[in-house]
Amino acid sequence: MTMLKMRKLYDTNAPNKSTGIINGESSNVLNWDDTTRKWTYPMYKNMLRNFWIPDEVSLINDRNQYKSLSEEEREAFNKIIGLLAFLDSVQTDFSSKVSDYLTDSSLSALMSVLAFQEVIHNESYTYVLSSVTDSQTQDEIFEYWKTDEVLLERNKFIADGYNAFIELPTKENFVRAIIYDVILEGLFFYSGFAFFYNLARNEKMLGTAKMINFINRDEQLHVSLFTNILKETLQENPELDTEEFAAFVHDCFKKAAELEIKWGNYIIGNNIDGIHAGELESYIKFMTNKRVRELGFDPVFEGYRRNPMRWISVYNDNTTGKADFFETTVTDYNLVDADNDFDSL
Ligand SMILES: [Fe+2]
Ligand SMILES: [Fe+2]
Repeated sequence: MTMLKMRKLYDTNAPNKSTGIINGESSNVLNWDDTTRKWTYPMYKNMLRNFWIPDEVSLINDRNQYKSLSEEEREAFNKIIGLLAFLDSVQTDFSSKVSDYLTDSSLSALMSVLAFQEVIHNESYTYVLSSVTDSQTQDEIFEYWKTDEVLLERNKFIADGYNAFIELPTKENFVRAIIYDVILEGLFFYSGFAFFYNLARNEKMLGTAKMINFINRDEQLHVSLFTNILKETLQENPELDTEEFAAFVHDCFKKAAELEIKWGNYIIGNNIDGIHAGELESYIKFMTNKRVRELGFDPVFEGYRRNPMRWISVYNDNTTGKADFFETTVTDYNLVDADNDFDSL
């Protein structure tokens, strides 16, 4: 086990251009024209282009519609927001802890932007709830994660993975923590996203869905960032790229998918108009396979190469979220793109 060294505040003897993603030499001065990884500056610009402010999205219609949701829809709406609020809160803090050990000033800069975006995500949950419910209900929703057992089990899975790294920051725990990160940002958010997009396609809660779409757009970049960090860490530290690690990735994603399916059945099941539990389970398995493939590993589930909820790509892929997409009705559910299957990956 090799411990990670914390990045120094500055180092006059080290070059500005980092010599290694972890345990490397770096002066810690950031010159975007003198970085080791050429993808970091374009990613930084993309993250900035995503900038959005929650209360610029109108929730006046959502406030009225919330009252007319079915009881099951309202319950799912509340619990999913409670879940997302927990995950984004933890994520803000976790990203800064990871950042402490990245010996590349361009990557620590990206982590700062990522953390800032997580803060915005959290603000959006406060804004939504304060717009559609009373303050007592809002307080209760922000407490769900402490008492709801299905939610707790799911969140504990991530938190334990993060804590293992925080308590013992070795190289091995670092790459493992990144797997938990990709599960959080690239899998655990997605059945929640599906729920809000399903409401939107039924023309319900369009303001909330629009914000969820902005969050989704940010998360896509966060997943790419952590995926790149993992790949480059394994490349620079080939001793970490073992069969044992591949087995860990497989088992971890499998367990995550099981927890996600359990949560999906609990929160959505067959109680929500427009989403079928079997379809959601297939979607979760498809997303699991997609993420492990992106990370460079074998799929966890046999089959599940195509997105069973094809309508969702219209929402997931809406990277021009500022174009008032959610103020119009989407009629062409058949739009597809590479995100709908990964044969080409
Ligand atoms: Fe987030
Ligand atoms: Fe994120």
